[in-house]
Amino acid sequence: MSDPRLASLSAALPDLRLKTEAAELEFYGRDWTRRWTPAPLAIALPGTLAEVQAVMAWAHANDIAVVPSGGRTGLSGGAVAARGELVLSLERMNKVIDFDRVDRLMTVQAGMALEAVHNAAAEHGLIYPVDFAARGSCSIGGNIATNAGGIRVIRYGNTREWIAGLTVVTASGELLQLNRGLVKNSSGYDLRQLMIASEGTLGVIVEATLKLTDPPPPTNVMLLALPSFDVLMEVFAAFRERLQLEAFEFFTDLAIKHTTAHGAVNPFAEVYPYYVVTEYAAGDEVAEAAAMAAFEFCAEQGWVLDGVISASVEQAQQIWRLREGITEAVARYTPYKNDVAVRISRMPAFLARCQELIGGAYPHFEVVWFGHIGDGNLHINVLKPEGMGQDEFVAQCEQVTKLLAQVLTEFDGSISAEHGIGLVKKAYLGSTRGAVEIAMMQAVKRALDPKGLLNPGKVFDA
Ligand code: FAD
Ligand code: MLT
Ligand code: ZN
Repeated sequence: MSDPRLASLSAALPDLRLKTEAAELEFYGRDWTRRWTPAPLAIALPGTLAEVQAVMAWAHANDIAVVPSGGRTGLSGGAVAARGELVLSLERMNKVIDFDRVDRLMTVQAGMALEAVHNAAAEHGLIYPVDFAARGSCSIGGNIATNAGGIRVIRYGNTREWIAGLTVVTASGELLQLNRGLVKNSSGYDLRQLMIASEGTLGVIVEATLKLTDPPPPTNVMLLALPSFDVLMEVFAAFRERLQLEAFEFFTDLAIKHTTAHGAVNPFAEVYPYYVVTEYAAGDEVAEAAAMAAFEFCAEQGWVLDGVISASVEQAQQIWRLREGITEAVARYTPYKNDVAVRISRMPAFLARCQELIGGAYPHFEVVWFGHIGDGNLHINVLKPEGMGQDEFVAQCEQVTKLLAQVLTEFDGSISAEHGIGLVKKAYLGSTRGAVEIAMMQAVKRALDPKGLLNPGKVFDA
């Protein structure tokens, strides 16, 4: 134990599995952003609620900053520990605590992986519907702390809709039981909702009571090829009017170039400029006919050039891989990510403005466009050219993000749709939240964490 401050912690909590090896500090000190050099003080791996409380009380008494840590799949730098913080990893706390069939509620520990939550819900014939490609690695605690979205928001909403209760440890080690699974509770401020999307800055989520629901009827997946950006929202409207959509996602030819290079299979012989993956309820002939009607209508308008419908679960998975594989396929280019949102009705005008701005600003970069277009959420990934230094690349991208942030203010949009602000979008929070609102958020932070020890420097500076 090189740092003398840690001796008292490990003496008080011998089961904490405190880690201080260089490789461990490196591993736990970063998330998927890969932009900051990890430099945590140590890694604490509590196995119980009482240990989390004790760690927080110790950190509070010793003025040590703490970074709550889940699967570190975050894309905003929220779980980065680059300034001597203690990383508090929830990974050992990964069990189901309780399931109640009448309430349709499942209480789990925060370190449980999203996919494990899906599997546990399936054992009871139910689903936890929040879903996205990082399901195998991200934790439910991290999902709640970022209000994660994903590919099924169009049907089920964000993580926020599915949280019936939270157990939270405060900055000083006290315990909060928030909402306790109640459907109705008008007894004052809802601190549970305040914790959701707080990115580890207000409390450590230790347990969550999740709402579960019925599985959807059988679904089909359709891959569509589009001639241009301009018709994207028309196609969306045509499909949404005729079908119960479970997902409606889009990506470009560049995205498919990268996912196919990474092992995904493109069922089309030709290359098209834009693609949509949509999943829809297809349990009977009426739904199938509606899907064909939507496709034919779009084809007649010239909005869709080609299409494929999955004929098996394997084919559905293959189609999804073209979309879900994008983040991993472009990761080796350390992409600069924009994750922006506007109201769906404003999407066509916003897309046009973005295309003009981004197209003009990055002629020398590869820009991969994709996203949850049915939610008004666009991902714009700029790939770092080989040979360009990371700092130079980020500096160039930041210039464009400044302009993008102005456009977002004009459109009443958000600089972070689902990834969080963390470190990467801190400078742009003001494009989305007013000065009074930010001052109030800072006041909340001071009230809940007066010493500023919980994930300091994330979302905003104290
Ligand atoms: P981490 O990265 O560990 O942490 C994220 C933030 O939450 C940090 O600020 C951290 O301090 C805080 N935190 C973590 N655990 C706790 C806790 N127990 N208590 C308090 N604070 C905590 N995101 C989407 O929304 N939609 C997507 O479609 C999507 N797709 C992705 C695809 C891939 C391939 C990858 C790599 C990422 C994707 N993400 C997506 C981003 C990421 O997976 C989510 O943000 C996820 O919710 C992060 O969970 P995590 O456990 O990895 O959190
Ligand atoms: C996704 O939807 O695949 C991720 O949220 C986006 C990203 O990697 O930018
Ligand atoms: Zn996404």
